[in-house]
Amino acid sequence: MCSIIGYTGRFGAASVLIGSLKRMEYRGYDSVGMATMESSKILVRKDVGKVIEVEKSLQLDAMPGQIGIGHTRWATHGSINKINAHPHMDCNNNIVVVHNGIIENYKQLKVDLQNNGHVFKSETDSEVIAHLIECHYSKYNDVKQAVIETCKNLKGSYAFVVIFKSGLVAGARQDEPLIIGLGKDGNFISSDVLGFIEYTDQSIFLDNQDIVILNENNVSIYDFNGNPVSRDVTQVAWELGDIDKGKYAHYTHKEIHEQQYSIEKAFGIQTESINKFIDVILKSKNIFITGSGTSYHCAMLAKYLLNKLSDIRTEIVMSSEFEYMSRLLDENSVLIAISQSGETADVLHAAKIAKQNHAKILSIINIPTSSLARFSDHYLTINCGPEIGVAATKSFTGQLAIFYSIVNKLSSTRIEIKFSDFSDIINEVLEQESHIEKIAEDIKKTKDIYILGKSLHYPIGLEGSLKIKELAYIHAEGIAAGEIKHGPLALIENNTVVIVLNPSDDTYTDTLNSVYEMKSRGATIIGISNQTNEIYDYFIKLPTINKLLYPIIEIIPLQILSYYLALKNNANPDYPRNLAKSVTVR
Ligand code: F6R
Repeated sequence: MCSIIGYTGRFGAASVLIGSLKRMEYRGYDSVGMATMESSKILVRKDVGKVIEVEKSLQLDAMPGQIGIGHTRWATHGSINKINAHPHMDCNNNIVVVHNGIIENYKQLKVDLQNNGHVFKSETDSEVIAHLIECHYSKYNDVKQAVIETCKNLKGSYAFVVIFKSGLVAGARQDEPLIIGLGKDGNFISSDVLGFIEYTDQSIFLDNQDIVILNENNVSIYDFNGNPVSRDVTQVAWELGDIDKGKYAHYTHKEIHEQQYSIEKAFGIQTESINKFIDVILKSKNIFITGSGTSYHCAMLAKYLLNKLSDIRTEIVMSSEFEYMSRLLDENSVLIAISQSGETADVLHAAKIAKQNHAKILSIINIPTSSLARFSDHYLTINCGPEIGVAATKSFTGQLAIFYSIVNKLSSTRIEIKFSDFSDIINEVLEQESHIEKIAEDIKKTKDIYILGKSLHYPIGLEGSLKIKELAYIHAEGIAAGEIKHGPLALIENNTVVIVLNPSDDTYTDTLNSVYEMKSRGATIIGISNQTNEIYDYFIKLPTINKLLYPIIEIIPLQILSYYLALKNNANPDYPRNLAKSVTVR
C-alpha cells in the first residue's frame, strides 16, 4: 500500500517525482523518500511525514540527476521513522530500491544475507531486495539476471523499482500493481497512472511476474524466466484537472460535492454492459457478492434490494472472510466483486478463489485498468473519476447506482429512476451543509455515536459509522434499529448521540419506536428524513423521492457530518491516521 515511482528522462528527476508522490500519496503517507543519480553517484533523501510536510527538508534543489525513484510509505514491517523510510540501499551504495508489498520470507533472507556479511540499516522487509540484487549483480554483472534471481528468492507480494549505477532502471511485480508510462521526455514506472499522468497518458500495465528494464528511450519487458514479452500500450483517459482540489480545501470535501454529478453518471451506464451481467447472473445457481469496507456495505444493500424486489437469492461475504465461506463455489456460481480501486488484496484473493473453483467473475470497479477489472469475465465501471480522499464517498454512491440499475433489470417491480433529477436532488441535500456543520460543532466532543436504520437503511448506518470512525476518530456503530433492545440499549445514557435514518417508507413507524426507547433513556436524537418529528433534537431534511432510493441520498449528510467532525477535531479528512486508500496487503 505504498506508492513507488521511477523516472528516467530529460527533466530533473527530483522535481518530476515530487509531483508524482503528491498525487499517489493516498496509497500511504507515513514517510517520503527519494533517490536520484548523477554521474554514477546516488543521493538518497527521506523523512517522516506527508510530502507537503517534508518537501523542504528533503532539499530537492540539491538533488541533481535525471534518473530517480520515489516512495511514500504505509508501514508494515518496522516502525515509522526515517531509517525505515524508503529508498533502501545495498552495502556499497551502488543499488537503490523502493518497494510496495510484503516480503513474507524476509527474516530468513536477512539472516542468510547477514551471515554472508551484508549489513542492514533498517527493520524493513524491503531492504532485503537491495542486498539480494547486490549479491546477484556482483555474480552475473547483468541487470536482468540480477532481478530475475532476486525474484526467485522472494516470497510474498511485491512491486519494486531499482536504480543501478549503470544508469538503468528496473522493476518487477508479483501481485502488486506496476505500470509503465511512456513519455516524450522520459519513461516512468509507477504504482498508479496518477504517478505520471501529468506527463503522458500512454501506459503499459505490466502482468504479474513481469520484469521491466528501462532508460530514457527504451522499455524492455521480460517474464520471470527472462523471455521477452510484449504488452499492449493503453491510453488512459483521466483528465489531470480531476486530480486538483479545485476550490475545496480537501479532496474528501470535493468528492462529497461531486456526487451531484457522479451519481447521475453512474446511472447512465450502458444497457449493453448491464445485460452481460444479467445474463451471467440469470444462468448462475449460486450468486456471491463480495467487497471490503465501504464496498462491502454496497454488497449488503444489494442483497436487501435483490431480496425485496426480485427472486434472486444471494450470499454476501466480506472479502477478507471469503476464503472460509467458499465451499459452495462451482462452475454454476458467479462472484460479483465490488471494489473502487480494483486493487484491494482481499477482494483479488476472493476473485482468485472463485476462479480456481470455475465460477464466473463479475466486477464493479472505478478503475477499468485495475487488476480486478482485468481478472473479471465482465466488469462495470462506476465512472466517478479519481477518488483521492482515503475515505470512499462518491465511489460508494456510484456503486449503489450501478446496483440499482442491475436490480431494476432483475426484478418485476421496476424502480422509477429519473436520472436527470438526481443532480437537483443531491443539490438539495448539499444545501444542508452549513446546518450539518453546526450539528458537528455541537457534538464534536462526544465519544460514541450510534446510527440506527432498518432494512435498506441499515447498511447505510454501517457505512455512515465507518465514515465517522475513520475521518473523525470517534467510535461509531451502525445498528439495525430493531436490535437495540437486544443489547445496545444498555449503552444509552444522558446525551448519547443517536442518529436515525428514517425517511417515510415501510420502516418509518418501527424505527420511530426504537427511537422512543433511546430518547426515554436520555439520548440526543439526530433525525435524517424527509419528514420531521418532535422527537428529533436535530433534524436533517431530505427531499421526498421514490422510497426505494433513499439510501443513495441519506449517506450524504453522514459523509458531510463526518467531514466536519474531522475538521473540528483537528484531523485531516484526506489522510486518516494509520490508513491508506488502496489496501494491497492481506
Ligand atoms: C472506507 C474505505 C475502505 C474501502 C476498502 C475497499 O471509507 O474507503 O473501507 O472501501 O478498503 O476498497 P476498494 O473499494 O478499493 O476495494
